[in-house]
Amino acid sequence: MDSPHSSDFSPRSSVSNFADDEHDLASVESVPSTSRPASVYSYHSSVDGQVMLKDVYGRTINNTSDHYGLPGTLESFCSSFAALTDGCPAVPWAADPAEHARLDIQHLMLKTKLNGLFVPPLPVRRALAPRQSSTPAILDLGTGSGSWAIDMAKLFPHVNVVGLDLVPANLNSLPPLNCRFECDDINLGLLHYKSSFDVIHARCIALGIEDYPRFLSEVVEVLRPGGIYLAGAGDMQLYNEDRSPVVLPEDEDDPKYSWMVRYLKAMFEAMENQGSNIKSYPHIGRWIREMGDEWGDTGEKVYWVALGPWEEGANGRDRRASELMRQNFLGLLQSARPLILSHGYFEASVDRWIKKAQEEMNAMRRRLYVKWMFYWAIKPGSSLDQL
Ligand SMILES: C[S@@+](CC[C@H](N)C(=O)[O-])C[C@H]1O[C@@H](n2cnc3c(N)ncnc32)[C@H](O)[C@@H]1O
Repeated sequence: MDSPHSSDFSPRSSVSNFADDEHDLASVESVPSTSRPASVYSYHSSVDGQVMLKDVYGRTINNTSDHYGLPGTLESFCSSFAALTDGCPAVPWAADPAEHARLDIQHLMLKTKLNGLFVPPLPVRRALAPRQSSTPAILDLGTGSGSWAIDMAKLFPHVNVVGLDLVPANLNSLPPLNCRFECDDINLGLLHYKSSFDVIHARCIALGIEDYPRFLSEVVEVLRPGGIYLAGAGDMQLYNEDRSPVVLPEDEDDPKYSWMVRYLKAMFEAMENQGSNIKSYPHIGRWIREMGDEWGDTGEKVYWVALGPWEEGANGRDRRASELMRQNFLGLLQSARPLILSHGYFEASVDRWIKKAQEEMNAMRRRLYVKWMFYWAIKPGSSLDQL
């Protein structure tokens, strides 16, 4: 048994699919939703840090969304975090420098695996072609550490790039002059950007989107004719060497048991209980197709990344991506800790799972794959049609 306080077990979660795990649960609080008025505003670290961020179990969390709660943000904000520890967070997913360092590793892993910043390359380059009628522009939704936005700004110096997130990007240096960042909640609407962008990028943000089909209908409006929507998501379940989904055995001593999978289960349970849309990302492709002729060409592509460089015969690029994937998951263990603790699991249980998952990944005891899905959809028309 993991917990020293068995009499304190009081699982009150609305999620019941992990009933056998209740011995690790201390308590689960239901947190009432709060909303804030719609706005897009420039932030000032000394003033707005307290509004946007709070400290939970030693990690910094966004304070503005009920749907998303991994750590995220500017080092200069950290001094104000200590004052923000009162009360339970809405969705405690860290939003601090450590989480942004993890996102940087994930970004590098995807860049390595995709051999570039986006798929498919030609339509993106076409949408961003220089023209006389307007300056091409990119919107990176849920930009996180801002790495993708900054890389795109460097790759396309003639293009304006906007990175948007609930919390400020954790920049170590000034971004290129053609790249800026905004803080806002996508769920409050995007139509103030109507017909403003040629590429809209939304990678790993489905968790934080309240109503994805509604969001897609706004994305079409915000794109210019000929513009392209790019979405990406990592599958939240892990896969065996034969690419079948991992089913967790009941017995922890079973050689097929995976502590990483155990940890992910606790993470999803906590996310679902707190209102994140953990089930929406597999439907992105279908929702795009259901929009019919609002889109011209659409497509999707799957990439498999080994969790650690265990694949025999893998080329250098795939091995590097696999090692980065492992580093990413090691960081994820820490980033998700406040979320899982806030859900009510005992600290001793969570820290034991983390230790076991670290050992498993470092020794590559389980040969696992992570599945990544990328989607694209092109708005009919051409940027050259614009006045
Ligand atoms: C997993 S990170 C991905 C970051 C980045 N897109 C990448 O691929 O590296 C998800 C980001 O989406 C942001 N996010 C989630 N829901 C959001 C919302 N409703 N509005 C704005 N940003 C949101 C989070 O704050 C977080 O930085």
